[in-house]
Amino acid sequence: MIRKVPCKTRKNEYTLSVEKLEGLFSVPSVMPEWKPMYAELSLKDGSKQTILIRAIKAEEVDPLAAFIKKYTDVEYDFYDIVGARVFAELLAIKRNRMKDQYFLVGLADGEPIGIANGRIRDQKVNISLHTMAFKRRINAGAILFYAKCWYAFEICGNDEFWVTFESYNGWMLAGYNMGLPTYAWPAVQHELGGAKVYLLTREYWEQSVRDEYPPQIARCQLLADPPAELLKKNEKMTCPDSIEV
Ligand SMILES: CC(C)(COP(=O)(O)OP(=O)(O)OC[C@H]1O[C@@H](n2cnc3c(N)ncnc32)[C@H](O)[C@@H]1OP(=O)(O)O)[C@@H](O)C(=O)NCCC(=O)NCCS
Repeated sequence: MIRKVPCKTRKNEYTLSVEKLEGLFSVPSVMPEWKPMYAELSLKDGSKQTILIRAIKAEEVDPLAAFIKKYTDVEYDFYDIVGARVFAELLAIKRNRMKDQYFLVGLADGEPIGIANGRIRDQKVNISLHTMAFKRRINAGAILFYAKCWYAFEICGNDEFWVTFESYNGWMLAGYNMGLPTYAWPAVQHELGGAKVYLLTREYWEQSVRDEYPPQIARCQLLADPPAELLKKNEKMTCPDSIEV
């Protein structure tokens, strides 16, 4: 707003550097590293599919965003809203507009099978953002979601994982299958649209979810120290030309 200046001043104008402005807008990142892990998915026909779960690389943000943009037109199983939000979250990585966002990709032979992302709010709370499966009906979503929980509790040392759901499939995956309670609503709201917060506590993680979810729901284990060959095969990510839902 323009106002009359109430005293004499040495300068009539001040110049601001955009680098200094940027310092006001973005915050330093303090995220612990996600070391690549892997899982052997058990498919319905009895065969196995090994996926590597690793952090996205800076150079993969643009191609993955272009790939995910395609889902924003898909009016099916809530892929449009989830796609649009994940697209924005990838831009937030590129433009440095979200505090401590971690973004995991599940890859098979360099092809993205799904993603799982979230952000560290503070030492106590880790916030789940989204899980997406690009290959359907291979149960990729469950282990990707579980990987985020692992990151929150086993790597970041957080006490609570705050989850919410845009889709029924997402709710089945974690809300129902993990048996998560909610915080009182609307007193506590998730940052995704003010929806209910489904809560996974460290206590419940250690008592039950950590050991029971992989065999019961994901039908595979999250494994450390991927073989060198698996790492090599998934060093470079290549997005398919088309999407399937
Ligand atoms: C939510 C989402 C990540 C769930 O991932 P997912 O569980 O791998 O997803 P899918 O729906 O493709 O596959 C699940 C199905 O495969 C089945 N399945 C896969 N592997 C199986 C196996 N080895 N044995 C038995 N069933 C298996 C599951 O039982 C389920 O079957 P159903 O459709 O008959 O119920 C995924 O549906 C998605 O990306 N949706 C759009 C985005 C979204 O909604 N994200 C979550 C936001 S809250």
